[in-house]
Amino acid sequence: MFAYYFNKTPMHIFYGKAALIDYLKSIKTNHSSIGFVPTMGALHKGHLSLMQQSMRENQVTVVSIFVNPTQFNNPEDLAKYPRTLEEDIKKIADFNPEIILFAPTVDDIYEGNTSSQSFDFDGLEHQMEGKFRPGHFNGVGTIVKRFFEIVKPTNAYFGEKDFQQLQIVKKMVAKNNFKVIIKGCPIYRDANNLAMSSRNALLSPLEKQEASLIYKALVTAKAKFKTNSASTVTKWIQKSFEKNLDFKLEYFQIADEATLLPCLRKNKDKKYRAFIAVFVNNIRLIDTISLN
Ligand code: PAJ
Repeated sequence: MFAYYFNKTPMHIFYGKAALIDYLKSIKTNHSSIGFVPTMGALHKGHLSLMQQSMRENQVTVVSIFVNPTQFNNPEDLAKYPRTLEEDIKKIADFNPEIILFAPTVDDIYEGNTSSQSFDFDGLEHQMEGKFRPGHFNGVGTIVKRFFEIVKPTNAYFGEKDFQQLQIVKKMVAKNNFKVIIKGCPIYRDANNLAMSSRNALLSPLEKQEASLIYKALVTAKAKFKTNSASTVTKWIQKSFEKNLDFKLEYFQIADEATLLPCLRKNKDKKYRAFIAVFVNNIRLIDTISLN
């Protein structure tokens, strides 16, 4: 365990699981609840909003920073993923030094076997991100399960920005009877309504500005969906992105929130959501909006 002093306040940082487990055992009482916020670092206000909710709802908050190799299907993406641990530590200490930080090494987590377990998420894993990032959700399931075993959280916080991930984690918890409550948290956006993402750090200021078009497209889709079918809205969005050469649309899909299956015919009893993945100069961005 290392203490980082910020404004003379000690902050608890653990780089290995054994010390974290011992520490959590030593502070846990029958009444205390542990909130857990898993992240891959390069922290931004979206991450901080999850931490804030956890701080509000639990006596103890643990945040992990770990760029999980098994969820990257593309080695280039893994290599260029931003790693800013020193800055992240300062951000957390500044935000609230009572937060316990877990920043393990790949070896500490995978113990020499950096591979994923295979999961069945009842088909949630075959849609959207699952189609375009093979193996991604097995990697997410593997790391989230491992973190749950280490941290044993009462509540765990996930952003709706990665809505498919949120549904998949809920499914994993339900299927395995894990004793943790999964809390979905709203998407935090910048002044231009671009969803905050660690990957935004890789965009130039101009690209960042242009990327605000993604949210505009989602808002237009929401308005059009009131009076048009999912397929009409999808075609319209695809066409509008074809015109813009700075963007490469990977997918736009309107899907049932519960099953993530594409909406073929509207059913007034179902909740729908639009999902989008776009490359802006090779940087892959995702966003989503609730439609009804
Ligand atoms: P990461 O992309 O760092 O995101 C960590 C958490 O922050 C996720 O639950 C994500 O949905 C949430 N988040 C990201 N941007 C957000 C925003 N703009 N508003 C609200 N929440 C936001 O997602 C992962 O890491 C990894 O897959 C992880 C779950 C840590 C497993 O490795």
